Amino acid sequence: FAAPLLQGQKILLTAGPTREAIDPVRYISNHSSGKMGFALASAAASMGATVTLVSGPVTLPTPTGVQRIDVESAQQMFDAVMAHLPEQQIFIGCAAVADYRAATPAASKIKKSQDTMQLQLVRNPDILATVAAQTPKPFTVGFAAETHDLEQYALDKLQRKHLDMIAANDVSVAGLGFNADDNALKVFTKDGCHELPATDKLSLANQLLTLIANYKN
Ligand code: PMT
Repeated sequence: FAAPLLQGQKILLTAGPTREAIDPVRYISNHSSGKMGFALASAAASMGATVTLVSGPVTLPTPTGVQRIDVESAQQMFDAVMAHLPEQQIFIGCAAVADYRAATPAASKIKKSQDTMQLQLVRNPDILATVAAQTPKPFTVGFAAETHDLEQYALDKLQRKHLDMIAANDVSVAGLGFNADDNALKVFTKDGCHELPATDKLSLANQLLTLIANYKN
């Protein structure tokens, strides 16, 4: 009988949101629940892969057989990914990483005073682009969460970040994407596009990993 599709493969995944501290009690974040990334981790383990999952703050149980590393901020996610990157064959960036963080998080709680206040933000490191720039580099898969011009932005990210594949989701569609149980993906490589229509995230994860396994070989 045939070996599981990802037998012997080492896969590193990111999932969930990141939290960027403003002060000890407040943060900047987004609506990612981790469901899509955890479904990918679970499906990859079922397909025979050795899976390391770097997760932002979520409320999901660790999938069976998966090594999980919990982080909060984008910088911590970056550090955990880089520490575990050697010897990985596949990297999938499913986390919704904050692009910016507070330039100088306050050491104590910010008290209200003026009617308006300004918060200076600085760019976070791009985990996905940094992984794709390594030599040797794992087969690198990004996600693109877009509300408009999905294909154009996804193709731009594929080329600009030197990815092998990008899975784009339209996060403006009700019932799909952020925090939903279902999702739909348009998967782009330099050779073309595969549409994975709306279904539950575990089924979608199985389909995406099958595409990755077949395309990679
Ligand atoms: O978690 P769920 O509730 O299940 O929702 C799933 C999801 C919508 C979060 C997921 O399917 C998804 O689209 N994840 C990527 C979200 C995102 O941040 O997309 P982006 O277009 O901003 O980022 C593009 C890619 O660069 C992503 O692979 C992201 O992980 C990566 N990135 C972004 C910024 C950064 N500093 N480092 C990164 O690695």
